[in-house]
Amino acid sequence: MTPSKTSPFDLTGRRIVISGAAGGIGSATARLCAEQGARLVLADRLAPEEIRDRVGAAVAGAAEIHSLDTGCRRAVTALAAEVGPVYGLIDTAAIAPADDWMAEDWDAALDAVIRANVKGPINLTRAFLPGMQAAGEGRIVLCGSVAGWMGGIRSGPHYAFSKGGIHAFVRWLSRLGAPHNVLVNGIAPGPVETAMTEGKGYDPQAYPLKRMARPEEIAATAVFLCGAGSGYATGAIFDVNGGTHFH
Ligand SMILES: NC(=O)c1ccc[n+]([C@@H]2O[C@H](COP(=O)([O-])OP(=O)(O)OC[C@H]3O[C@@H](n4cnc5c(N)ncnc54)[C@H](O)[C@@H]3O)[C@@H](O)[C@H]2O)c1
Repeated sequence: MTPSKTSPFDLTGRRIVISGAAGGIGSATARLCAEQGARLVLADRLAPEEIRDRVGAAVAGAAEIHSLDTGCRRAVTALAAEVGPVYGLIDTAAIAPADDWMAEDWDAALDAVIRANVKGPINLTRAFLPGMQAAGEGRIVLCGSVAGWMGGIRSGPHYAFSKGGIHAFVRWLSRLGAPHNVLVNGIAPGPVETAMTEGKGYDPQAYPLKRMARPEEIAATAVFLCGAGSGYATGAIFDVNGGTHFH
């Protein structure tokens, strides 16, 4: 890190795209990035009004807001062209259906998970990485999961498969970014209190800290990974799992 008087978490003036911005972790990340001075481009498959509601008027009012299906390459490419170069990309868009993988119609769920959780990050990074490479700096943060390491606490095989893939993809992509000072890292949360886990039988008392994570506790790592303080981290997956898994 270059010696500086600014905070290692400072994002003043940094333009950052957050996808899945209407979600629990995505909206918390948007608020925390805004607090650190970032200029935000917020995207989610939900309607702009819903993204605004979930992020909060103050932060949403100063942000560019787009309805986007990250699984659609054409739409992501068009958004990147419209938005132009950005310093950071934080992708928190994903789905985790609860279903039976032996069911006759399960392949549709598998396809949907691959589309959102695998094609989404690939589409986003293909669209935004070249601008970062050209600028000679950039940060990419992708969401893995404890499920990607140990199969998951309550998640299905499609989800665990996709998140293990993200961990591998982060390492692959970090090699592409490093020569251009584009740092690529992942976060592997444990159970977090969001819509994704609600009503799925998570038992906070079963975890070492006797609680699930708050979305802000994952967002803080995303902010760190975009700030100057993480300037020598790339190709890493940061566990924020409350001790639910060691490896
Ligand atoms: N909640 C947890 O316990 C947990 C644990 C480990 C990892 N994660 C990961 O953290 C990230 C954020 O999860 P969350 O808990 O905030 O979930 P969430 O359901 O609250 O938010 C996910 C958001 O992604 C959006 N989204 C889904 N598919 C999309 C698509 N194709 N295009 C655009 N937007 C799309 C949804 O509309 C939603 O707003 C995900 O990658 C998730 O897999 C969550």
